[in-house]
Amino acid sequence: MTDPPKQKSSFRGLAVDPREWNPPEPVPPRSLDDVERAAAAVLPPDVWDFVAGGSGRERTLAANRAAFDRLFVRPRVLRDVSRCTTDATLLGRPVRMPVAVAPVAYQRLLHPDGEAASARAAKAAGVPFTVSTLSSVPVEELAGIGGSVWFQLYWLREDGRALELARRAEDAGCEALMLTVDVPWMGRRLRDERNGFALPDHVRAAHLDAGPASTAHRGTAHGSAVAAHTGQALSPALTWSHVAELRAHTRLPLVLKGVLDPQDALHALESGVDALVVSNHGGRQLDGALPSVDALARVVEVVGDRCEVLLDSGVRGGTDVLKALALGASGVLVGRPPAWGLAAGGENGVRQVLDLLSEELRDALGLAGCQNVAEARELYVGMGRTG
Ligand SMILES: Cc1cc2nc3c(=O)[nH]c(=O)nc-3n(C[C@H](O)[C@H](O)[C@H](O)COP(=O)(O)O)c2cc1C
Repeated sequence: MTDPPKQKSSFRGLAVDPREWNPPEPVPPRSLDDVERAAAAVLPPDVWDFVAGGSGRERTLAANRAAFDRLFVRPRVLRDVSRCTTDATLLGRPVRMPVAVAPVAYQRLLHPDGEAASARAAKAAGVPFTVSTLSSVPVEELAGIGGSVWFQLYWLREDGRALELARRAEDAGCEALMLTVDVPWMGRRLRDERNGFALPDHVRAAHLDAGPASTAHRGTAHGSAVAAHTGQALSPALTWSHVAELRAHTRLPLVLKGVLDPQDALHALESGVDALVVSNHGGRQLDGALPSVDALARVVEVVGDRCEVLLDSGVRGGTDVLKALALGASGVLVGRPPAWGLAAGGENGVRQVLDLLSEELRDALGLAGCQNVAEARELYVGMGRTG
């Protein structure tokens, strides 16, 4: 007798029986660009646009990247980098690298744990996490996670509310206050306007809206509900006298975020601030504003070592951090990259972004002949000429 024909390994017409299929290990991201792609693949299109977008024609958004790409570093050699370290200090406190997580609003849009996942990842990576005024998780919960937590303040229209919020952050245990000064109102984010972008019910501005759905939840066919809500909440009348008021009100280090002009940097010094963030809000406010990295050197020149100068807008890897340090920054903030990590993988995704940045910075320092961050500040950086 002949044997019956052998069953072919097939499962309901598939070439491979899925019960026997061992999927390959997911490939870990090798760069922040990989994480960006992963986030784009999982986020609903309108949420992706809210994160990725800039204002107007997005000229400043694009220029932030182009400006970094135009810069080149002149590496040093033969300087024993076997014990190269990214350790640094920010606002006088030790950090594992000179990078902080920037304030990014409404993170529960990106992941159910929202800001709590980001704060846990920042703590594990040894870098500060900045809580937005428009956080979807309250500051007390985030400060309770531990690590170094900073609070970003928007000046609210209602009298006294901004100072109350500053006190609330201080009482919760935040280590610094960061007043954002480039948002008299939200820049025209055309993607959000076209999408009629509104918050879903489960995402709230935890420090502002205690009651039922706010303006931010009431979408219209044409117009951003989030921009309308911000316009109602934030004061466009902010001046240097408010900075002085805040300085007198808090014992915490005070940081001004959103300065590009050297005269404004000098005003800030006179107002007693401890640090500046040279920033164009990631290209989300004035479209046509100078790329932050192009504004940095002049600001550093006028303030000297009288206050710390940080930078954000367009940092996408370790070599960008190196360039900012070489131009005199004490460190940088990253906004979108941790948000991509959060969308793609929750706490673990944010941790991957911060670990990648740390590995890349260490690599860049060593290859540039620097044992540490202080030596990076001595490097020459220019437009590719010999300098
Ligand atoms: C989705 C999103 C929300 C943001 N929310 C805030 C905010 O609430 N407060 C603030 O000061 N900056 C906010 N920013 C600006 C960031 O703090 C930071 O300045 C900017 O993202 C840096 O540029 P980068 O994204 O290229 O790193 C936000 C940015 C994004 C992308």
